Amino acid sequence: MKMIRAIVRPEAADKVTEALAQDGHYSLTKINVFGRGKQKGLTIGTIHYDEFPKIMIMMVVEDESVEEIVKIIKYKSYTGNYGDGKIFISSVDAVYTVRTGEDGL
Ligand SMILES: Nc1ncnc2c1ncn2[C@@H]1O[C@H](COP(=O)(O)OP(=O)(O)OP(=O)(O)O)[C@@H](O)[C@H]1O
Ligand SMILES: [Mg+2]
Repeated sequence: MKMIRAIVRPEAADKVTEALAQDGHYSLTKINVFGRGKQKGLTIGTIHYDEFPKIMIMMVVEDESVEEIVKIIKYKSYTGNYGDGKIFISSVDAVYTVRTGEDGL
């Protein structure tokens, strides 16, 4: 199993999650976050914005779904401008469902 953490523009988040749902990927956690990337924020005139609001979409999925999910996230969150987002993938050792006590997704 893998954990996907995609940090996207707030205005892209619904497009991403709707497309993921259409492809059968429903389970997710969404978190409002603030962050910055390589540009260390953005200066407009005399004002420097250190961090920008983003939405982090977190999903734990089977390994074989990762490629498809990443493709959808990239496609739906792309504008071509700085700050479109970042996708991080990591391994997940264990998952438990509280209701059933079972392990696995
Ligand atoms: N290395 C990182 N570690 C943790 N979070 C990051 C990292 N890079 C970016 N982020 C998060 O992702 C958000 C979007 O990053 P962003 O798209 O600006 O990445 P970037 O690498 O600067 O790419 P670009 O050059 O296209 O702007 C940031 O606001 C921050 O929340
Ligand atoms: Mg950036």
